[in-house]
Amino acid sequence: MKLLQANAEGIDHAIERLRRGELVAFPTETVYGLGGDASNPAAVTSIFAAKGRPADHPLIVHLPDAASMSEWATDIPDSAWVLAEQFWPGPMALVLNKQDQVSDLITGGQPTVGLRVPEHPVAQQLLKTFGGALAAPSANRFGRISPTTAQHVLDEFAEDDQAVSAVIDAGACPVGVESTIIDLSGDHPRLLRPGMISLKQIEQVLLGKVEIPPADEGPRTAGRLPSHYAPLTPLAVHSFDDIALMIAQEKPQLAVLALQTPIADIGPHQWLVMPDDPEAYAFRLYAELRRLDQMDVDRILVEQPPNKDDWAAINDRLKRASH
Ligand code: TXA
Ligand code: MG
Repeated sequence: MKLLQANAEGIDHAIERLRRGELVAFPTETVYGLGGDASNPAAVTSIFAAKGRPADHPLIVHLPDAASMSEWATDIPDSAWVLAEQFWPGPMALVLNKQDQVSDLITGGQPTVGLRVPEHPVAQQLLKTFGGALAAPSANRFGRISPTTAQHVLDEFAEDDQAVSAVIDAGACPVGVESTIIDLSGDHPRLLRPGMISLKQIEQVLLGKVEIPPADEGPRTAGRLPSHYAPLTPLAVHSFDDIALMIAQEKPQLAVLALQTPIADIGPHQWLVMPDDPEAYAFRLYAELRRLDQMDVDRILVEQPPNKDDWAAINDRLKRASH
């Protein structure tokens, strides 16, 4: 995998590779995406192979601008244009009824397609220069933590370096967790995946309620699987008081991702204090989970963040990481 600089030359190299049907990982404001030419079936197929992702989990198509939405979707409701106007480019994806010609490879055979206009300047420049759409899931192996740096992408594919042609390095992704996904293909808007654009913000713009579908319901959104975004070390979410007890009692080596400083001696355990602001927490979350995962600890304990709207994306990812 070639490491490309986030400058005009790097982007030109990336585009050459994408035009040949190769995969290029690129930064977005949320996480790094594993991009392939959305109009090239061979490229789309190789995204699934590289990730080890089942074929029925659809991919998000990344577009340079909101106007391109009509090339991919049909029966686009006003609510889609309103949300696009407010939040695109940005960390939101919309699920809409697909145009007939959109390949089943991308949609996993579903009648809908996921679309997103990313805000990251490198993603923007890549999409505008490429002049087409990029199918791009998060650039991790299926079920693992999404990458928020180019090094994470290199680490993810270290054993299968040929699967991904290049990664554009633009440092850490500013948001740090995946986009908010809103399904507008049915009668009522539905939140398929919480993100840092919160449910409240979406409802304020739509002037109405957004449904939250039951966890066990399709369509098959990989991000909705109970076990996802997971480190290899077992992870559990607990209250500060429970963690304090476990630290005092447990023999196994623990690593704690906390919001508060420890009250007593932590002995041989690791203790990391995270920011108490959800934006700053989300920015660091995946990098810290990867770091703790690489330390030789038996369990990762995470202090339960507040049960509030602006923490919903973080609580969702922690729940899935702990399954
Ligand atoms: O922030 C993000 O959305 C990142 C960056 C790279 O853009 N992408 C991302 O892609 O998280 P991925 O594939 O890892 O997760 C996208 C989720 C998947 O769980 C997928 O199943 C769901 O979106 N999805 C895509 N198209 C869908 C559709 N038509 N209906 C329901 N879910 C869909
Ligand atoms: Mg993913």
